[in-house]
Amino acid sequence: MTTLTDIRLALATATLNTASRVAGLTGDAFGRLDMLGVGRDPYPIYDDVRSRGRLVKSRLGVMLTASHDACNVVLSSPDTSSAEEESPGGVQRLLDVRVRTREVNPIQDSFISRDAPDHTRLRRLVQRGFSMKAVSAHAAMIERVSTALIADFPRRGPVDLVQSFARPLPMRVIIELIGVPSEDQPRLNVWGDQLAASLDRPRSLSAVRSIRRAVADIDLFFRDLIAQRRREPTDDLLSLLLEKMDSDVAGPSDQLTDNEIIATLGLLLIAGFETTVNLLGTGTANLLRHRDQLESFGSDPAGRINGLVEEALRFESPVQFTMRRSIEDVDLGRGDVLPAHHHVVLLLAGANRDPDVFDRPNRFDIERANARQHLAFVSGAHYCLGAALARLEAQVAWTTLAKAFPDVDRWRFAGTPQPGVSRIVRGFRTLPLAFT
Ligand code: HEM
Repeated sequence: MTTLTDIRLALATATLNTASRVAGLTGDAFGRLDMLGVGRDPYPIYDDVRSRGRLVKSRLGVMLTASHDACNVVLSSPDTSSAEEESPGGVQRLLDVRVRTREVNPIQDSFISRDAPDHTRLRRLVQRGFSMKAVSAHAAMIERVSTALIADFPRRGPVDLVQSFARPLPMRVIIELIGVPSEDQPRLNVWGDQLAASLDRPRSLSAVRSIRRAVADIDLFFRDLIAQRRREPTDDLLSLLLEKMDSDVAGPSDQLTDNEIIATLGLLLIAGFETTVNLLGTGTANLLRHRDQLESFGSDPAGRINGLVEEALRFESPVQFTMRRSIEDVDLGRGDVLPAHHHVVLLLAGANRDPDVFDRPNRFDIERANARQHLAFVSGAHYCLGAALARLEAQVAWTTLAKAFPDVDRWRFAGTPQPGVSRIVRGFRTLPLAFT
């Protein structure tokens, strides 16, 4: 049934589509980025933004930066916010086409969209499970899953690296960590895709409806799982959260509501696999496009793996950009000021090609000495909670592939890859390759 809210959303998306298209056609950076087809090359836009200055204003009201240094200042400033504005005005109101639902939305309602002190309290509760030490305990499990997935590759013909490896690996890892039954993996796969698509603003009413359905389904799914774990606790992250929250000795900072648990689990699920799948997909494609780098990796996988992971994160960052809102003026140095009450699009992938930091930034070089200075995991208070896990997964995945198919001369493209579903999370939906 079409409601009044639906009509309002349909009008808002259509208005913004038109405003963006018109702005983009006349060279506006945000308009160009917003209307760029999913999978198209965004790097010329990032270079253009950087060439116009450290902070560029779009006619649609937002600011943009592709400067490494300016991104860093914004990300670590106490005068910027990750939270939604209560009542945005003007064009911002249109840019903020939210898909409000009664259910818990894993992105809008979780700690990734909150500021201190809420952010600190909620992040602290799950932080310990993602430290380097905690994560390294999962290395054997990640290796077991990687080896099993490769063993299932078709004996003949091409293998779709995304569907057969890059996607199921992080999915199995995160569901095992959270404590989701493995038979639910296919449903989570679909919801993950729908929510990843929702990171971009919705472009139509049907997109809004698909997001609403996914949000409602995930909400119900986690509510059932919580009830189940309360009845029969295990040793997974969910049981630990519930134990903490329900115990008599829980302090005020441990008091999570069911809604907060659902938002946290949803966030871990989406952030935990929609990003890593793209690191593995685009990273492998970039190796194949740069045969000298593939040879270098093949000649010493153990010695080159760390360099490969960091350069893959830098060269084609899975999360291409993010947003912050200034609460006060933020001094970016060198005479630039981000004025109070502005949204700023931080072009992380553009910052990772900033020639002020990275020598010959458009070269894919797995031996680059300072690749780890990338902002693929941002910096500051919201630094990716899963960075150690993502790094470990990529290290294990690529070394296991190199062990299974040591003759890297045979690695090649075996069809046309299809792009993923979002402009923000960049990667492939399919990547047909041959290894033998
Ligand atoms: C290659 C893989 C990954 C990339 C590129 C990535 C990137 C990012 C980025 C850019 C942010 C900051 C977003 C913002 O504040 O605007 C972030 C936050 C986050 N990531 Fe990741 N991520 C990856 C893997 C993971 C994994 C495996 C997990 C596991 C659970 C995870 C969990 C999170 C969480 C919970 C946050 C929110 C942190 C906070 O707000 O304090 N990520 N990630």
